[in-house]
This record gives sequence, structure tokens and C-alpha cells, in this order.
Amino acid sequence: MGTLEHNAKYLSTKLVFLVSCAGLLGAVFIADFVWTSSSSISSAYQSYASNWALQKSQKILFLNATNKKDDEKEALKGKKDHLADRFLPATFADLPAPKLEWEQMPSAPVPRLDGYAMQIKNLLYVFAGYGSLDHVHSHVDVYNFTDNTWGESFDIPKDMAHSHLGIATDGRYIYIVSGQYGPQCRTAITRTFSLDTETKKWRSMPPLPAPRYAPATQLWRGRLHVIGGSKENRHTPGVDHWSIAVKDGDTIEKEWRTEVPIPHGGPHRACVVANDRLFVIGGQEGDFMPKPGSPIFKCSRRNEVVYGDVYMLDSEMKWKAVPAMPKPNSHIECSWVLVNNSIIITGGTTEKHPETKRMILVGEVFQFRVDSLTWSVIGKLPFRIKTTLAGFWDGWLYFTSGQRDRGPDNPQPQKVIGEMWRTKLHL
Ligand SMILES: *[C@@H]1O[C@H](CO)[C@@H](O)[C@H](O)[C@H]1NC(C)=O
Ligand SMILES: *[C@@H]1O[C@H](CO)[C@@H](O)[C@H](O)[C@H]1NC(C)=O
Ligand SMILES: *[C@@H]1O[C@H](CO)[C@@H](O)[C@H](O)[C@H]1NC(C)=O
Repeated sequence: MGTLEHNAKYLSTKLVFLVSCAGLLGAVFIADFVWTSSSSISSAYQSYASNWALQKSQKILFLNATNKKDDEKEALKGKKDHLADRFLPATFADLPAPKLEWEQMPSAPVPRLDGYAMQIKNLLYVFAGYGSLDHVHSHVDVYNFTDNTWGESFDIPKDMAHSHLGIATDGRYIYIVSGQYGPQCRTAITRTFSLDTETKKWRSMPPLPAPRYAPATQLWRGRLHVIGGSKENRHTPGVDHWSIAVKDGDTIEKEWRTEVPIPHGGPHRACVVANDRLFVIGGQEGDFMPKPGSPIFKCSRRNEVVYGDVYMLDSEMKWKAVPAMPKPNSHIECSWVLVNNSIIITGGTTEKHPETKRMILVGEVFQFRVDSLTWSVIGKLPFRIKTTLAGFWDGWLYFTSGQRDRGPDNPQPQKVIGEMWRTKLHL
């Protein structure tokens, strides 16, 4: 139900865009954007030029959406490659953004996809994740922002999930809820833990009422909130919302409480508390599912719809829709930092390409001002990438890990990395 609504909204936006282009610029509009090299940038235009696609000029063809007759004529000719010509290039979803200077820092000990991270003071705790689709990590790596080194590494409990976790911190304890246990598209479990980052001791907590993949999770007003995620089959969006009172790494209630369900469910969203309000940002409905009968739970692709919706919960305890992200964005659960009352989000995945159906990664840095509830695009990452793990220290925005694109002209996912990058942030 939600899926169709999202789809329709997204498509109709695209259509309006096409039609207005046609209206303004005539039947067929061909634009050649020649991105110039970034080394000698001075003009305002150039500062908005992409730092990815430096070499190639790209051709963008917009059809006159109202000119049906020509379409029909062309169709009758039966030209096979005719359709391919008219569609948007793979990079169509990139948004104009200022250039940021990125500096590469030491890489994590292992590459990670769908890893999770929590920052406590000058330390970034990086949890589990896939090394490859057939291998998951079972440890935590710790990055020290003060001397910019990867130091400590320690194991997660044997019965803790490895990916698609819910995760939150109170500044000392890290809470880890449910998630997928094992590689490929294996089953989600309900087990829930806390980690005392000072003693490195783990504690088991009451299991979630039902397993969830990548639920939005956050600590708010002394309660651990777990919202949405995917249900047991990994694909069906859950809208359930549970909470439990916690203190010093333990629950102070016996059972999870049922809270007001979120209007749209689904996994891979950012969940942030700012100004004493709880925000749930972006995400998707649907996800890969295990292939029926596969002994290794082999992942097989299913329809998914990415969205940019933002929901807010305040003292009224009613979900309110607030302005959506500049574009649909998912796989951002640990890709954010909160700085000066702005939520900064790095990378993600957006809607698949309308024609090629390929997955498209996101390379922008977004800012959401919590006071005015407004979005802007404040820069570009060194490449497009999903499931980044972000941190902020001493004026620097950091990100590490994730799956990056194939190159400036190809936003499809390819390599899983452990690289760490940083840029000076000026809001
Ligand atoms: C675009 O289509 C409209 C409606 O069919 C037509 O009036 C207009 O002339 C077309 N534009 C061009 C430049 O062909
Ligand atoms: C982080 O680095 C600083 C500077 O080298 C050091 O003083 C501190 O002990 C380190 N913290 C940890 C937890 O290793
Ligand atoms: C946040 O605000 C402080 C105080 O106004 C300012 O000094 C700092 O540069 C700001 N941080 C960023 C990242 O813009």
C-alpha cells in the first residue's frame, strides 16, 4: 500500500519534471554538460561542478513528453535501440553540490558493508557487518579521532546479530537490538545486548517482541525506541514501534511497551534525537530475500522502493511528516552526525534507475536544520557510497566503510571498502 503511494509520488514528480522541460525548451532537449577539472576552480559555476565526472561529457536526452505522434511513428519503425537513446544516463540522480576537500585517513582493519557505528567522545566503535556476502565480521574495531589510528578490537557476543542491527548510545553504553544473524540473507533474531564501552562488558537484555531487520533505533527520554525495520521474511516492512526503559546499560522494565506505529515502515533509515524530538529519515520498503529452499539463504533481489520521507515524534507522541530529503535515500542508519543542531548525512542509495533498474548510490552530503526543518545539499563525497559510518570530531566530518560506486560515470555499487575519509565541515 505504502509502496504504491511512494512509487506514484516519485513517478509523478519525474513526469512533471519531464513535461516542464518540454514546455520550456521545446520538443527534444539535448544538454551536454562538460564537467571541468577541479584543480583550477574559481567561478561559482565551477565550484558546483561535480568532482567525479571530470573527463567525459554526458548526453542527456529529454523527450517532448506531449509529442505522442512522433513517438508512435518511431515505435512503428521498430528500432531496437530507439528506447535506449531516450532514457536518462545512469548518473541522472546526482544533485549539484559544492565541492569539498577530502583527506584520506587510515583504513579500517577490514572492509565492511552494512556495518554499524556509534561515536562516544573521540572514539568511533565500528560493529560487525559483512566482509563479503558470504562472510560476516564478529568483532568491533575502534577508531581514535585524537590520534587518527585504529586501535582496539574486540569480539561481539556469539549470539549477537552481524548486520541489520538497531543501535543507539547514551554516551557510555551502546544498545544493540535484533538484526540479521549470519551472512547472505539469513534469519533475523530478537536478541538484544548492551555494551559498556568503559569495561568492554556485554549484557543481555529482554528480546525484542519480534525479529526485525535494520529497525530505526534511538534512545529518547530514558527509553530505547525500536521502530519499523523489515519483518521476518526480510522484505515486508514492519510499522511496529516498541520501547523499553533503560538505565546504565540495563532495562528497568521487564517488557517492551507497544508505542504508536510509524506511518511507513521499512529498514535502513537514520534515526536521530535532536531538540528533544525523534526523527526517522529516509529508508526503503522491501529488501533482498532469501531464495526459497536455498540452504545458504542466498540473497535474491526483490522489488524495493526507496523514500526520502522524514517523520518526527514530539511530546504529543504522534508521528508528523516533515519535509522530505532532497532525494530518496536509504542505507543511512549510521551515516549521520548531529552538529550545531543540524543533522548531516553522508551517502546512501536512492531509487533504482527507471530504465536499467540498476541500484544507484548516493554521493551527496545533506544537511537538515532541526530548527527550520529544511534540507540542503552541502557537498559531495569523494565517490558515491552506501552504508557509510560517520563521525564528527574537532571540526572534521569523517566517514568510513560501505560499498562504493564503480566510478564517476557509474553509480552502481561495486567494491566494499574500509577506507576512512574526512573533510573540514563549515555549516
Ligand atoms: C512538443 O509537443 C507539443 C505538443 O505536441 C507541440 O505543440 C510542440 O510543437 C512540440 N515541440 C517541438 C519543439 O516540437
Ligand atoms: C586516543 O589517542 C590519544 C592521543 O594519542 C590518547 O591519549 C588516548 O589514550 C587514545 N584513546 C584510546 C582509548 O586509545
Ligand atoms: C558550530 O558553531 C560554533 C559556534 O557558533 C562554530 O564555532 C563552529 O564552527 C560551528 N561548527 C561547524 C561545523 O560549522
